[in-house]
Amino acid sequence: MKFPSGVWPSGSKPKRAFLLVDSMLSRPTRLLVSKLSGFGCKTSVIRLRANEALKDFRNVYPIYGQLLKKGADRQSVIFALGGGVIGDASGFVAATYLRGIPWVAVPTTLLAQVDSAIGGKTGVNHRLGKNLIGAFHQPSLVICDVAFIKTLSQRELLSGLGEMVKYGLIYDDRLYQNLRQDWKSILETRENSIVSYVGKCAELKAKAVESDERDTRGPRALLNFGHTIGHALEGATKYRYFRHGEAVIWGMRFAVVISLLKGFLAEKAAMDIDQFLKSLPVPEIPRDITLRKMLLGIRYDKKNVGGSIRFVLLKRIGEGVSGIKTSGDDIARAYRVIRQGGLG
Ligand SMILES: NC(=O)c1ccc[n+]([C@@H]2O[C@H](COP(=O)([O-])OP(=O)(O)OC[C@H]3O[C@@H](n4cnc5c(N)ncnc54)[C@H](O)[C@@H]3O)[C@@H](O)[C@H]2O)c1
Ligand SMILES: [Zn+2]
Repeated sequence: MKFPSGVWPSGSKPKRAFLLVDSMLSRPTRLLVSKLSGFGCKTSVIRLRANEALKDFRNVYPIYGQLLKKGADRQSVIFALGGGVIGDASGFVAATYLRGIPWVAVPTTLLAQVDSAIGGKTGVNHRLGKNLIGAFHQPSLVICDVAFIKTLSQRELLSGLGEMVKYGLIYDDRLYQNLRQDWKSILETRENSIVSYVGKCAELKAKAVESDERDTRGPRALLNFGHTIGHALEGATKYRYFRHGEAVIWGMRFAVVISLLKGFLAEKAAMDIDQFLKSLPVPEIPRDITLRKMLLGIRYDKKNVGGSIRFVLLKRIGEGVSGIKTSGDDIARAYRVIRQGGLG
């Protein structure tokens, strides 16, 4: 792990660092502790079970108690070492503990490196929907080392790949074409190719966040491409069946079909994308996930305005469009197309 020297959140070294870490990551934890100790920083480690259940108030609440008992104060810094679950939950703790203390993200999954560690969206889930409770709280620093992802499973890599393809589809035609060629080498974590892809995706995300930090003006809203249906599928399967990016891959397939049906996207492009997404080794949507169950999951989507459903759609490969009113009928038509094997 390359650790930046002289770059600290407040311009000076933190005296105390509280490491909220994924309990599975012993080696990276030891590495981070030793680096921080080398900087003369006192560290306390809080190990957490990193599954989606952590993003529940009831499971986050005890973390505040541990911080209080261990003496975390406003000069302390939280380090979040892990994937998106650790990042979202720890960032939320940092945003709210003593009304907010600085935090540093150390993402260890591909998904977190290209997406969730960048942009300052922190939060937890509600029984009625994902990520509904939260705060914008930017990390002071993101330490991204692709060496971490070598121990990830294929499914976790695929999950990250889903978000990378999303960037290509909404922002950058060439990135999409390159990923279409190289996706297997990413799943094999061939370092040379992965470093530049992670860099490119992180840059695209950072640019979108910079131009629309609070997700109100549009550029950032495009990042929700594939997420309306993606979140609904995750919810309908109780967050236990799909990895986040896998559900997003399904969600992008729906959004592509809807883009075609509503006349936004040309047939050739829609077929090209659907054929590619179909070729990725994503688990099938279980048969018992009916249209009704999916629509229920969309009811509390954050993009809804005045009760109507809004989708991010594609105009062409590399150009998304947000805020498109989409009816239950549109979704039903796409559902039938997808259930019958998709486009092409
Ligand atoms: N805040 C945002 O902007 C944003 C964006 C996208 C997704 N998210 C959130 O991110 C979460 C998903 O993140 P994730 O996919 O990183 O999940 P995760 O944190 O659950 O990690 C996935 C799995 O990989 C394991 N793992 C982590 N690092 C590892 C490593 N280096 N080697 C081996 N195993 C490792 C974890 O223990 C876990 O089992 C979701 O809750 C989603 O809502 C947030
Ligand atoms: Zn996502």
